[in-house]
Amino acid sequence: MFYKLTDEQLMIQSMVREFSRKVVAATAAERDKTKEFPADNLRQMGELGLMGMMVPAEYGGEGADTVSYVLALSEIAYSCASTAVVMSVHNSIVCESIVRFGSEALKKRFLPRLTAGEIIGAFALTEPHAGSDPVSQLTTAERDGDHYVINGVKRFITTGQNCGLVIVTAKTDESAGHRGISAFIVEKGNPGLKVGHTEDKMGLRASDTTDLLFEDCRVPAENMLGKLGEGFKIAMVGLDGGRIGIAAQSVGVAQAALDAAIKYAKGRDQFGQKISKFQGLRWIIADMATEIEAARQLMFSAAAMKDRKEKYTLQASMAKLYASEMVNRITGKALQMHGGYGFTADYPVERFYRDARVFTIYEGTSEIQRIVISNNILKDKRKP
Ligand code: CAA
Repeated sequence: MFYKLTDEQLMIQSMVREFSRKVVAATAAERDKTKEFPADNLRQMGELGLMGMMVPAEYGGEGADTVSYVLALSEIAYSCASTAVVMSVHNSIVCESIVRFGSEALKKRFLPRLTAGEIIGAFALTEPHAGSDPVSQLTTAERDGDHYVINGVKRFITTGQNCGLVIVTAKTDESAGHRGISAFIVEKGNPGLKVGHTEDKMGLRASDTTDLLFEDCRVPAENMLGKLGEGFKIAMVGLDGGRIGIAAQSVGVAQAALDAAIKYAKGRDQFGQKISKFQGLRWIIADMATEIEAARQLMFSAAAMKDRKEKYTLQASMAKLYASEMVNRITGKALQMHGGYGFTADYPVERFYRDARVFTIYEGTSEIQRIVISNNILKDKRKP
């Protein structure tokens, strides 16, 4: 499907492109080295309306559609994938889940600060022994009067250190399987919530990934998101949207890698001519551009289906699967085209290559996407 963008979508794309290439790109390489959290970028992104893009205006958001959102996210990822993943989890999973499942009181309490970029949201589903299989999580939430008391360890939490609130899933009924999992909003500063180990990662180094430790963490019962036992569904619905976000990140990084490779190939002489004149490289560039365009169209298709309020689980997984595997091929080829220089930190492609590696892993591995896709196509749900 060829997706024709509206004037408004094109305007958002061009505004974010300008901001991203002027402001976000300027510090991306340095942040990759220092691991400094992109707080300045995110503050400015809040001012530009990028931290609550799909949130209705009455809660401080932009009320934009998902197509506009993926355009914006791709543009941020083009310059800095670390900044993009924070934007993605915050918008696609945290804000969207509160809009969709939060009570009016929770929406009024949390969305204005989230959309302004005053606080960043995190999403805590994964545990040390529960990654692809979140139903096997061990974190519990026990009712105690008008509170729940949460105990457990969450792992690989994007923005765990720098978030202002986290949506956490926990078992409220040990015997009820996925229907015994509920979701809660926990604010940073809660004495029962501590930040544990911070991961030292090969990529996305300016985005912090941490353990979150819940130790007798008392949360008011009204902080439950959705209904009792709805936590797994909230996570799955959130991940459907999140997976479109990973496709957008993939498209952005892949385009940056292709543009860098073209720039290098047009400037580099070997055997008496620019290497961009060699047929071998021209065909690689043609294949790269074609794969990026295919991923972009899958991303648009899933986003447009979400905007039309159709069921888009299948398309989100297809977009995530194809785009995340595509960007790993593209960044590898872009690095190869740079020869030895591609292996050095003097050129950005080695950062793109490292950043892209996790895209086939987080928010559901490629293997999990294939389970979701095959279950949806064959229509006979099969356990992994
Ligand atoms: N939308 C709505 N409901 C859904 C759904 C969806 N997309 N997918 C599943 N459900 C519902 C099902 O309908 C079912 O409900 P009922 O029994 O009431 O009908 C229930 O959820 C259980 O479904 P399954 O039996 O299919 O569940 P499962 O245990 O077999 O698991 C899975 C399915 C797709 C493998 C799922 O576990 C999964 O997605 N795993 C990967 C987890 C993941 O992506 N983790 C990423 C962590 S977050 C992260 O990386 C964020 C970050 O910080 C970057």
